Amino acid sequence: MALERTLSIIKPDAVAKNVIGEIYTRFERAGLKIVEAKMIQLDDELAGGFYAEHKERPFYKDLVAFMTSGPVVVSVLEGENAVARHRELMGATNPKEAATGTLRADYAESIDANAVHGSDSTTSAEREVAYFFGN
Ligand code: TYD
Ligand code: MG
Repeated sequence: MALERTLSIIKPDAVAKNVIGEIYTRFERAGLKIVEAKMIQLDDELAGGFYAEHKERPFYKDLVAFMTSGPVVVSVLEGENAVARHRELMGATNPKEAATGTLRADYAESIDANAVHGSDSTTSAEREVAYFFGN
């Protein structure tokens, strides 16, 4: 087992729903420790740069508009296999396909307003943590 860090974002829809505490509780109960955290309002540059890998995808413009539509909570989670464990808690990208009891099943409305972000590999986790919190 590896002690890892991963990047979590509680997206504008979940912040607006007043479920920051409930989502943090899920992390803590799963053994993920919140080691960095900040609430910020993303602008086009910050959100666009974060999702640069999706720049050519048809949903990119709407994704950036959504991510800048209200404040987000950006956190670093630490724990054993934190990257995969966090992705399991989140559930599938499309909440219609997300397993029962996952964050997206419980809090997401649609594939484009899907409540949470989590790094998808240790490589992207390193890049994403540095993007928001430096090295
Ligand atoms: P992606 O990295 O594929 O999903 P995940 O967040 O599960 O890692 O996509 C990034 C975000 O882009 C996703 O959370 C929501 C948005 N998105 C859409 O709006 N439509 C889509 O068809 C896809 C695949 C993603
Ligand atoms: Mg992704």
